[in-house]
Amino acid sequence: MPDVHTADDPIARRLRSELTRRLVETGAIASSEWARVFNSVPRHPFVPRVFKPSAANDGRYSPVDGTDPAQREGWLRHVYSDEICITQLDGDDRAWGTAVKEGTVQATAMTCTSSQPTLMAGMLEALDLQDGDRVLEIGTGTGYNAALLSERLGSRSVSSVDIDPTLTERAEAVLAGLGYTPVVAAEDGARGLPDNGPFTHLITTASFPSIPAAWLDQISEGGAILANLFRPLGGGVLVRLTVSGDRAIGHFSARTAGFMPTRSHTSPSALALYRRVGEEDEDAAEAETSRLDAAAILRAPETRFFLSLMSDFDEIRIRYPDHPEEQWLVTADGSWAFSVGADGGFTAKQGGPRRLWDEFEALYSRWRALGEPERHRFGLTVAGEEHRIWLDHPDQRVMGLL
Ligand SMILES: C[S@@+](CC[C@H](N)C(=O)[O-])C[C@H]1O[C@@H](n2cnc3c(N)ncnc32)[C@H](O)[C@@H]1O
Repeated sequence: MPDVHTADDPIARRLRSELTRRLVETGAIASSEWARVFNSVPRHPFVPRVFKPSAANDGRYSPVDGTDPAQREGWLRHVYSDEICITQLDGDDRAWGTAVKEGTVQATAMTCTSSQPTLMAGMLEALDLQDGDRVLEIGTGTGYNAALLSERLGSRSVSSVDIDPTLTERAEAVLAGLGYTPVVAAEDGARGLPDNGPFTHLITTASFPSIPAAWLDQISEGGAILANLFRPLGGGVLVRLTVSGDRAIGHFSARTAGFMPTRSHTSPSALALYRRVGEEDEDAAEAETSRLDAAAILRAPETRFFLSLMSDFDEIRIRYPDHPEEQWLVTADGSWAFSVGADGGFTAKQGGPRRLWDEFEALYSRWRALGEPERHRFGLTVAGEEHRIWLDHPDQRVMGLL
């Protein structure tokens, strides 16, 4: 007998079918097979309690407990909306107790979420699975995506790994409770799952800075890797690669995807890098004028994609009272640049070992000179450690290395 929070009652079923219908209407689900799967697999047992970010977006989260009868309907509505469901903060399960006791909890990072259904559906469609395929998922999280894959292909064709053993244990139990028995393992996804391969497809729901060689070894010839690449600027960089011999080649997706960075890779936050910039350095740096509106360029999805792919910049915006916003670029080696101004008149300063403002201007000019290509015209060839970025065709117009 399922307990109260996992019961698949008429309200849960109705909300689930409404969500599926919306995903079909928006085009996120394009096939009847995935519509059937989304309609069949309940999401709520995977997210019995969730953290909701505060409206002020100030790093505070409040708890929504599906096991509390008074909160059940609101919780179900949240779970069957097209929203991410946050289930872990700062990698620490004690955050829940604090949130319940104090009403909210302060956190710096979401470390487990069930991703936005639109994104999940789009990526599952993009995998282009056929009956008989064998999939490895990197980033089990709650287990909901593994359940969708298991419903589509059968549990025996699905393996899923997560670096956090508390999550794999929990996900495996919920999956089993619903009758799904994929292989779930606590592993660093960078290693794949060699004992279970080869796979025809690999999908990541955590973001890696590059494609580990181990993944290529575990995908059969002609198989596919669908991965969100971690870039400090984000940019929603999603790539679909086909394995051919000892390489993997493919275009970046027109769709954007952003997942949390792999826990096995840490990079300094933009805020920490910004705080390292000394006031004297800033005062001493020579000011130059520029017509480039860096903030607008970074806001535009296509230029942001290009800059994310082609640079290691991170960014931060600083707002002082009665002063125009400052757009900062920072890199891990301590280089920095900022610009401030409005309406075609900007002042820029830069300092540290590199000239980031000059690099930013050069990259933007390069994108313009290429004819302002959209993201899906770019592609990637992975051969061992080498990641070569190209435009339109793997043998033409090599842009550089990742
Ligand atoms: C967005 S969540 C995954 C959502 C999940 N697919 C679901 O359906 O709930 C990202 C997950 O990636 C996991 N993760 C982070 N780094 C990882 C790594 N190096 N290897 C495997 N999993 C990792 C996190 O622990 C987290 O659970």
